Amino acid sequence: MSYGDDVAPIANLNDQALGAMYDLSAPQPNYKDLIEAGGWFEPMEGMALSFLRENTEFVLRNHELFTSRVDMNLGNVRPMIPLNVDPPDHSKYRKLLDPLFAPRVMNEQEEDITRRANGFIDAFIERGECNFTEEFAELFPASIFLGLLGLPEDQMRMFLDMRDYILHPEKIDPDALLDIETRASVQAKGGQLIYDYFTDLIAKRLTDPSDDIISRFLAAEVGGDKLSHEDILDIMFLFVIAGLDTVSDSLTCFFAFLAQHPEHRQQIVDNPDIISSAVEELLRWESPVPGGVPRVATQDVTLPGGQQVKQGTAVLVNYGSADIDAATFGDPFEVRFDRENNPHIAFGGGVHRCLGSHLARRELRIVLREWHRRIPNYTLKPGHEELEYPQGLRHVKDLMLTWG
Ligand code: HEM
Repeated sequence: MSYGDDVAPIANLNDQALGAMYDLSAPQPNYKDLIEAGGWFEPMEGMALSFLRENTEFVLRNHELFTSRVDMNLGNVRPMIPLNVDPPDHSKYRKLLDPLFAPRVMNEQEEDITRRANGFIDAFIERGECNFTEEFAELFPASIFLGLLGLPEDQMRMFLDMRDYILHPEKIDPDALLDIETRASVQAKGGQLIYDYFTDLIAKRLTDPSDDIISRFLAAEVGGDKLSHEDILDIMFLFVIAGLDTVSDSLTCFFAFLAQHPEHRQQIVDNPDIISSAVEELLRWESPVPGGVPRVATQDVTLPGGQQVKQGTAVLVNYGSADIDAATFGDPFEVRFDRENNPHIAFGGGVHRCLGSHLARRELRIVLREWHRRIPNYTLKPGHEELEYPQGLRHVKDLMLTWG
């Protein structure tokens, strides 16, 4: 599927690059090996992988040399907004979207997010165990996200299914794990579900406006123009996959770490004031989004590390390896909740830096606070110590926790 001649095609990046290059369960030692092996790989003609922080930052910060307008083959038929849009149009969309997720808006959500976190914990605390992935990590961020956007929370399962069609197609059809055509067909079906749902909602809101996100987008202007209906669909496509997956993934990585590191967990229990820096350190160490949109060179470029990049090459930068860069972080292999300077790039960098970072941080902090207040001691459930990190963004499938 192609958007047109001005868009660079990318073939099956998830499978070929991310999946094959390293073990998602414990990628940090592999990142170190890859950095020591030069930090730059060209697994095939037209594709390069960057594991060096200085190159990665250069690529992210020079959007005129490296375009994000790429076809990611995720079942979308047009570029996702704002992820696959370059400046200057990108800035216009961010001006519209940033206020929706601004720190002030997140301050107002504090109580609601706390209430929701406790509501999910209430459901299983007496049982003394839970499937953390399914009973908490999936549901909590989705409920907040739908609430924030005014979308129907009683249809959460449908939104999560839409996300799964795109990001976890093997959950919909197990053959999609290995068969590229099945994967593409499941993703295309998921894409259509998203487009159809929001096309109907746009039609409804044109005659019956509410205070939901679609009504707000219909009333909004970008650079003096109204958003087109396609623009709205292309924003919502990205929202469904970005808003419903990343915090869930992060939570499973965080709690898998904490369940296996009682001394770190105890620091949070004894001193909740360290939670903000614990969240930053766990984001750095786990880097749940290991890589972002491939950036395609718009001309021949020489990187700060000296590597030559030919025009048209898709560069896949790795955030996780940039976050264990020894020149940036003292003791990068130590997980230190008292780390003072922590310029991790788990939320990306440059103009496409994460739109939802304030929301994500707020959710992660509240969960660490409320969970450890109510369930200070927990471990991996016996018999479930072997953790599975499936392909895709870093997450733990069926993380089983138990407490006394
Ligand atoms: C801990 C959770 C999260 C992590 C680790 C994360 C990570 C990232 C990263 C690395 C990027 C940059 C991608 C690139 O440049 O290629 C990004 C962009 C983005 N994220 Fe997040 N994200 C998180 C949560 C969220 C949430 C909750 C939302 C919901 C609104 C969100 C929405 C977006 C959007 C819309 C973009 C594209 C921004 C642009 O292109 O200007 N993210 N995120």
